[in-house]
Amino acid sequence: MKLGFIGTGALSAAIVTGLKAVADNEVTVVLSPRNEAIAADLASRFADVRVAADNQAVLDACDVVMLAIRPQIAPEVLTALRFRPDHHVVSLVATFSQEAVAALVSPASRITRAVPMPMIAKRQGATIICPPDPDIATFFARLGTAIEVANADEFAALSVATATFATYFKLLDTLHGWLQNHGIADPTARDYVASLFKALGHAPDTAPEASFLHLAADYATRGGLNEQVVNQLTDKKLFDAFAESLDSVHRRITAPRRG
Ligand SMILES: NC(=O)c1ccc[n+]([C@@H]2O[C@H](COP(=O)([O-])OP(=O)(O)OC[C@H]3O[C@@H](n4cnc5c(N)ncnc54)[C@H](OP(=O)(O)O)[C@@H]3O)[C@@H](O)[C@H]2O)c1
Repeated sequence: MKLGFIGTGALSAAIVTGLKAVADNEVTVVLSPRNEAIAADLASRFADVRVAADNQAVLDACDVVMLAIRPQIAPEVLTALRFRPDHHVVSLVATFSQEAVAALVSPASRITRAVPMPMIAKRQGATIICPPDPDIATFFARLGTAIEVANADEFAALSVATATFATYFKLLDTLHGWLQNHGIADPTARDYVASLFKALGHAPDTAPEASFLHLAADYATRGGLNEQVVNQLTDKKLFDAFAESLDSVHRRITAPRRG
C-alpha cells in the first residue's frame, strides 16, 4: 500500500506512529508538508515515511489517501486537488458525510469513512469504518480493533461516542485537583487517580454480561459514598446534560454537510 495523508496533524501522527510500530508492514507513507514540524519529525523517525512537496504530490504518489484536515478547510483544500479514479479515499473528517466527501474528491469514488482514536499510536482502541471495506479494516485491525458498520446512521451514532474523551479527562482532572487541594501531592494524587480509572476500565471485561447500569449499582453500596455522589449528580441533572451534549454532537455530525 502507498498511503498518503492530506493534513499531518495529531491524528496522522498517531496513525503513522502506530503503523510503523508494526514490524512487518509494507506500507510506504507520504505526508503533506503541513504541519511542517510534525511531518519532518515523522519522516526522521521512520523508514518509508517521507514528506511531499505539496498536497498534489501526495496524491500523485499514493493509492490510498487519508483526509486528515479540519472540516473548516476541507472544501477549499480538496477542490484544489486532482484526484484519480483509482484513488481510495479514507476520510477521517468526522463531520463530512460520504456524499459530501464524494463531491469533493471526484473522480475518485471508492470512499471509506473512518474514526480512529488517538490511542492508535499505541495500537490501542477501536476504529469505526463505514462502509465495510476489507483493505481498510485489515489496515486498522493491525493498529487496534476495527469495527465495520454498513449503515451511515449507525456510524454517526458511534462517532458521537468519540466526542467524550476530553470530558473523561476533565472528570479525572477535577478529582486530581480536588485531591491536591486537600494536600495530596503528585505523584501520589495523579498515580492514584490513574490507577483507579485504569482498574475501572477493566471492569466491563471482567463482567461481560453486566450492563453499565448494573456495574454502577454494584459500586454504589446502599447508603454509601458512591451512592451519595451519583445521586447528588443525578439530582443536579448532570447526566441529563451529558445526554443533551451527545444529542447536539449527533445533530452536528448528521447535519447536511459540516459542523
Ligand atoms: N484528533 C482526533 O482524535 C480525531 C479523531 C477522529 C477524527 N478526527 C478528525 O481528523 C481530522 C484531523 O484531526 P487532527 O486532530 O489531526 O487535527 P490537527 O492536529 O489540527 O491536524 C490538521 C492538520 O492539517 C494541516 N493543514 C492545515 N491546512 C492544510 C492544508 N491546506 N493542506 C494540508 N494540511 C493542512 C494542519 O497544519 P498546520 O498545523 O500547519 O495548520 C494540521 O497539521 C479532523 O477532521 C478531525 O475532526 C480527529
